[in-house]
Amino acid sequence: MKKEEKEYKRILVTSALPYANGPIHLGHLAGAYLLADIYVRYQRMKKRDVLYICGSDEHGVPITIAAGKKGVTPQEIVNEFHFRNKVAFEKFGISFDYYGRTSSKVHHQTSQEIFLNLHAKGIFSKRVEKQLYDEKIDMFLPDRYVKGTCPVCGYAEAYGDQCEKCGSSLSPAELIEPKSVLTGDVPVYKETMHWFLPLGRFQQRIEKWIESKPHWKTNVLGQVRSWLKEGLSDRAVTRDLSWGVAVPLEEAKGKVLYVWFDAPIGYISATKEWAQEKNDPDLWKTYWQRQDTRLVHFIGKDNIVFHCIMFPAMLMAHGDYVLPDNVPANEFLNLEGNKLSTSKNYAVWLEDYLERFPPDPLRYYLANNAPETKDADFTWQEFQQRNNSELADIIGNFINRTLTFVDKRYHGLVPEYGEYDDLDKTMLDVLKKAPKKIGLYFEQFEFRKGINAFMDVGRMSNKYFNDQEPWTTVTKQPGKCATTLNICLQACRSLAILMGPILPFSAEKVWRMLGLDGVVARQLWDDAGSPALKPGHKLGQADILFKKIEDSDIEPEIERLKKIAAEMMERKNSEKPVVQTKPKISFDDFGKIELRVATVLEAGRVEKTDKLLQLRIRIGDETRQIVAGIAAWYSPENLVGKKITVIANLEPATIRGIESNGMLLAAEDESGQLSLIVPDRDVASGAKIR
Ligand code: 2FM
Ligand code: ZN
Repeated sequence: MKKEEKEYKRILVTSALPYANGPIHLGHLAGAYLLADIYVRYQRMKKRDVLYICGSDEHGVPITIAAGKKGVTPQEIVNEFHFRNKVAFEKFGISFDYYGRTSSKVHHQTSQEIFLNLHAKGIFSKRVEKQLYDEKIDMFLPDRYVKGTCPVCGYAEAYGDQCEKCGSSLSPAELIEPKSVLTGDVPVYKETMHWFLPLGRFQQRIEKWIESKPHWKTNVLGQVRSWLKEGLSDRAVTRDLSWGVAVPLEEAKGKVLYVWFDAPIGYISATKEWAQEKNDPDLWKTYWQRQDTRLVHFIGKDNIVFHCIMFPAMLMAHGDYVLPDNVPANEFLNLEGNKLSTSKNYAVWLEDYLERFPPDPLRYYLANNAPETKDADFTWQEFQQRNNSELADIIGNFINRTLTFVDKRYHGLVPEYGEYDDLDKTMLDVLKKAPKKIGLYFEQFEFRKGINAFMDVGRMSNKYFNDQEPWTTVTKQPGKCATTLNICLQACRSLAILMGPILPFSAEKVWRMLGLDGVVARQLWDDAGSPALKPGHKLGQADILFKKIEDSDIEPEIERLKKIAAEMMERKNSEKPVVQTKPKISFDDFGKIELRVATVLEAGRVEKTDKLLQLRIRIGDETRQIVAGIAAWYSPENLVGKKITVIANLEPATIRGIESNGMLLAAEDESGQLSLIVPDRDVASGAKIR
């Protein structure tokens, strides 16, 4: 990662607003919250002006579905989870400065203002679309309200926006035998007007802006560049729903804003509410509208397109706002080797966890094993092992042995130091350099490395204690022993400050054990390495810092997950394939087909037909002619230069008097829509397809 040059005066950090239709689980924490909290706590200790904003995302179709299932209103659903999640985050030490909610009045107003601002600038395009409609209840059906058979894998319960079995993104029109989730009736198509954000018009500006961010994480840049390469298209920003922010236009009565239009605005509205609470109602503008604010969005990878393309395009269109300086998105967290599934209860819920264990061991393990650059796996055994052999055996043990030694031998007073030997000097140097080293990792969003560097300080402290053998020197070289313990106590203090962002509860505990005033959270990060404990200072009471986690503590959890995993597997195996195929063929049969990549050299319509195009193609060194029934879907101009795929050894056929020497490959869905099968990266013409 490249160092940045721009000077920022303040930092605005956001974590993705979680949907308020369910509780928080470990996947959420590892994706958007824990690392953000570490970053913010660190920045606060650097005494930087930092503001940390989050809140509940209370709109969107899944919330109405959840309400429908429970027989309550969407407002009741979001009320329950907004407060439950807020409390769970607090108990876990996620230190938001403000936790808002998108059903608030300020949020509705802010979203409508931004919509109207863009509308007045003529940004939106407007057009009539055909959408599925349930005639029985007079209602347009959001994609999630339509179920049918997945055209990709044949799963019978696929939703109109996605198949949960194979993960394919779908549109309701692609479903085989679509049905309304609400009535079971077959929906009809009906026309409806919608407003679109023409992202294509922002493509160049976004490209330029993204290319000015070479320091972003490669997983984020990769995803954004691939969206840009595909070309940005219009996104509807209105919906025919009753739950959401009303579109503030007379002609859009009964419509609401698309949840992904209003949700990111939630960051702004929550900042406004924070400013109001501080009795400085315009203060939000300092954070959102001054270009010397560093805006950082912490999110999971499924939110990248919204935070790196759609929301920035909205902000660009508006013109008054800062754009994110960084979007350190994380990959996904798996659980005991399987994908998390909230509907199957294959998850570890934060509320449940907190009933059984303290927050810090989970903070440590999750952050140390965060899906920073690739998916990561959470296992209870590793959690136990990390707690026992790292937190307890290294950090806890070092602090405990130091404090009990000083209590016993020096009446709990910091001993005087004498002359330093080489080991002393090395140890003091490790402490001195630690804040900068760890801090730099945090600044660069390399939290795993930062946490390992912190643990290394603990390891070296423990080793120092062992190497100096104070239990021997205490009688033979009392001066040396006093110096050793003085340095060990300095290390305890350093560790307390350095663990502040990662292990905030334990850090405060160590601070009290050291008999120090104030709280760790208010200490200066840069001072963590200085030997600030004065000889003669009275220490507090030593206590166990990290309790060992026993097998019996985690076994029930492992068993519970194993059982669900087995059930999920059984269900998967018992599902019969539902795709209707032709009779099976042998591998040899398949091998007889010669599939090749070809380049289109020329293309033209076949006279007196609507369907046919005549193409001259090149397969390796050979040029030939084919006729293809794709004129309804592709215009000749757009085909020239394109790489396509063909069956190269099909017997020639004469179509409308024109010889066709091969056949191109295209996919056709239920609605008859055609899509050419093309290589997804540049390969040479003539390349074999296997
Ligand atoms: O994916 C989600 O959970 C969304 N609720 C995140 C919204 S982030 C922001 F834009 F509000
Ligand atoms: Zn599928």
